Amino acid sequence: MEKNMEREDIIKKLESDLSEIKTKNDLLQVKSMYLGKNGIVTSLSAKMKEIPNEEKKEYGKFLNEIKNEVEEKINLLLNSITERELNEKLLSEKIDITLPGRKIKTGSLHPMTRVTEEFEDLFVSMGYTVYSGPEVESDENCFQKLNIPKGHPARDSQDTFYLKDEFERFLLRSQTSTAQARAMEENKEKGPIRIVCPGKVYRRDEDATHSHQFMQIEGLVIDKNVSMADLKGTLELFCKKILGEKTKVRFRPSFFPFTEPSVEVDVTCFKCNGNGCSLCKQTGWIEVLGAGMVHPNVLEMGGYDSKVYQGFAFGTGIDRFAMFKYAIPDIRTIYGNDIRFLQEFDRKDVE
Ligand code: DAH
Repeated sequence: MEKNMEREDIIKKLESDLSEIKTKNDLLQVKSMYLGKNGIVTSLSAKMKEIPNEEKKEYGKFLNEIKNEVEEKINLLLNSITERELNEKLLSEKIDITLPGRKIKTGSLHPMTRVTEEFEDLFVSMGYTVYSGPEVESDENCFQKLNIPKGHPARDSQDTFYLKDEFERFLLRSQTSTAQARAMEENKEKGPIRIVCPGKVYRRDEDATHSHQFMQIEGLVIDKNVSMADLKGTLELFCKKILGEKTKVRFRPSFFPFTEPSVEVDVTCFKCNGNGCSLCKQTGWIEVLGAGMVHPNVLEMGGYDSKVYQGFAFGTGIDRFAMFKYAIPDIRTIYGNDIRFLQEFDRKDVE
């Protein structure tokens, strides 16, 4: 009876102690108050030796029960505090996944790459293949096989970079027309050819509209029954697609050693629509392409029978088109690698 009272008192006190607990630390203190070395329940066990032998068994049972009950109540609270603390932690560390992410800075295509790809896409859609040749080229492919023998005055305008060797056999190509010689040479069956060759070329030039390194694209079509009409149709389409449908195209007779007849192609000035302005030097026209029917000598040197096959060729500066298209006043900015200039062409958001 006395033990029961004691037990009730202990449990009541425990319950009231537990009711004030806020943190895990408080609870651990209470735990040691009851179950620790000098704790309330522990000191009850110490009384065992005062208990008469015949009551010892019952007292033991009582001790066990009270110990279990105290432990159970403490653990129950411990679990709920642990869970509450964990929830609070999770809540305070919550990540808001609805926040917009930080943009990763990426580069964008160089304006020259853009224009080159635009040209390539257009010609590929007309059945051409994109061909690429080396930038270090032989004198033979760059000049001789294009009907420009040693000493020919046409070399002067391309006064260029030869590699050091006493016979001056190799140079940095001065025109992508070298692709003509290469493509004919490589076509062992001497069948039809339809290629465009974009790439870098080198000349000893340097001012606002000329750079020692610039880009050209060369086109070559060889087949039976190819005429000047094919050349005109192709280049007119090319100019309109790249510069706008309203563009007018004009063909003027000209001279290139590797074509006969040769033409130069003008388009109406896109700045003034042909009315005359500083860009077109008040003429209303801007020259954009050189072209012509492949010279029979060039066909023969490439291994083609010029009585059976004809062809037309054309070449233009890609930089020139880029300058017109994006109103770039100085060619040197294209190669200057100034990030501010390049960012002007970052169209990722609209593409
Ligand atoms: N290769 C010439 C140049 O660099 C451009 C050219 C003119 C290419 C006439 C051609 C052509 O294919 O037929 O000035």
